[in-house]
Amino acid sequence: MNIVSPDKGTNIISSRLCYNIEKLKTKMKILTSKQKHVKFLRYPGGKQRMLTFLLPLLPTPAEIKGSYYEPFLGGGAVFFSSSPTRAVLSDRNSELINLYQSLKADPVAVWDYFEAFPDTKEDYYSIRAEDTGSSEFRAARTLYLNRTCFKGMWRYNSSGMFNVGYGGQGRRWAISQKSLLEVSQHLQNATLLNEDFENVIQLAKKDDFIFLDPPYKPGAKEMDDGHYQYGCFTFKDQERLSCALQEATKRGVKWAMTTSSHPDILKLYRKSCKIVQIPQGTGSRLGITDENPGEVVIKNY
Ligand SMILES: C[S@@+](CC[C@H](N)C(=O)[O-])C[C@H]1O[C@@H](n2cnc3c(N)ncnc32)[C@H](O)[C@@H]1O
Repeated sequence: MNIVSPDKGTNIISSRLCYNIEKLKTKMKILTSKQKHVKFLRYPGGKQRMLTFLLPLLPTPAEIKGSYYEPFLGGGAVFFSSSPTRAVLSDRNSELINLYQSLKADPVAVWDYFEAFPDTKEDYYSIRAEDTGSSEFRAARTLYLNRTCFKGMWRYNSSGMFNVGYGGQGRRWAISQKSLLEVSQHLQNATLLNEDFENVIQLAKKDDFIFLDPPYKPGAKEMDDGHYQYGCFTFKDQERLSCALQEATKRGVKWAMTTSSHPDILKLYRKSCKIVQIPQGTGSRLGITDENPGEVVIKNY
């Protein structure tokens, strides 16, 4: 196992890994200038803030001969900042996937519902309680709750009801019908699934590429009690993930993953993986970047 810190010198060479930092910086500049920011969801733990570091470590869309897979889609920061020819996107959160499916099929209908929702705190709580209706209505409701809830959090109670409190209307109109049309356009070549990650990883074949961003606490090891929105992600899930990725490697699939730098998690990838420290990332405190965020990128190439 090699852990490489990308900001300590020009050429960092370890037995398995050599990074030419100047090359990496040039690639980063090209990527940032080309990068399209289709950002319409607020997503704690989302990778938006680390894209300039992350993207140069991933293959470009032209380098992916097969399909691009993202089994922990969330706000899809990586997918929306690149344009893979074919993509398979999935998340276990069914309301989130319904939002993407509805935007792909009919962004104008979603916008019409979104725009018509009223705007007081009392309205927020009555819309939050209304979780039935057409897929476009539910998609607009998910988007409205995301834009107006407290800090863009995603949290559900044990009956699956969204239970984040009101945050205000300040961020609601940062999106427009045009942004939803752009999101829809971006999704046209994507297959959207609402599956557990293992079922999605199993679909990937030789020449496909998987980007993974599972739920994790930076620097920590998941324990058996849940800590994440929409159910928990335990250390057993981390072990399940590691096994699924080992099988994918045997099939000739390339993959890269952001995760915690806890030694027990790194141990799962000891064999033939490369581990790169993330110099600055989402950190453990919501909305605050951290000098030593306890996060790494693990990749099998
Ligand atoms: C850290 S977030 C991904 C954030 C995303 N990369 C972004 O930039 O916004 C992790 C996602 O994994 C999803 N998830 C949790 N457990 C899962 C499971 N067992 N299978 C698939 N997705 C799961 C959560 O719903 C959440 O959206």
